[in-house]
Amino acid sequence: MQQLIFATSNKGKIKEIRAVLADMDYQVLSMEDAGIHVEIDENGADFEENARIKAWAVHNVSHTLVLADDSGLEIDHLNREPGVHSSRYMGEDTSYEIKNAKILERLAGVPMEQRTARFVCAIAAVFADGRCVTVRETMEGYIGYEARGENGFGYDPIFYLEPGGLSNGELSLEEKNRLSHRGKALKAMKKELL
Ligand code: IMP
Repeated sequence: MQQLIFATSNKGKIKEIRAVLADMDYQVLSMEDAGIHVEIDENGADFEENARIKAWAVHNVSHTLVLADDSGLEIDHLNREPGVHSSRYMGEDTSYEIKNAKILERLAGVPMEQRTARFVCAIAAVFADGRCVTVRETMEGYIGYEARGENGFGYDPIFYLEPGGLSNGELSLEEKNRLSHRGKALKAMKKELL
């Protein structure tokens, strides 16, 4: 079985990635599994550039097939914040309970039609021979009025695909992967890997 390194240490993401790539002939290693520890400065202007920065940083050490994603939440009413700063919003170490509560507070009084938001995911692959491809997908939805559900991670409890529907935090792993920015981007990337 071939190996690929997915350049992330986020356990929530690795779980989703392994589930989508399960039917492929690849063993998916996290950076930790591969024993790679590199400091990566995610200073790109957009999701695609950050994904490429991460994939190249790890490829330059491993010289093998490396995939990396960069993802985040864009909230239209907040000028697309937190965007590329999604994991750094209010500080890396601040809990998502606090971050999500802050976003709900910032949107207090904003009607549903102005609460539109999207998750964005760019995935870059750098192949062993140095070829590089990037894909980008989104999941469009709304920021609800309350946090709900224990599944998923990050901003999932406040993100709703439809007003009045289930939050991402209430979706099963399979449902989320079918609908999500990352699930769709991984499917697009699978085509590139074949
Ligand atoms: P990255 O590791 O730089 O791609 O940071 C992505 C950040 O965006 C995560 O730490 C979360 O805050 C947020 N995010 C990305 N995808 C999701 C998702 O599927 N659900 C919830 N939050 C997400």
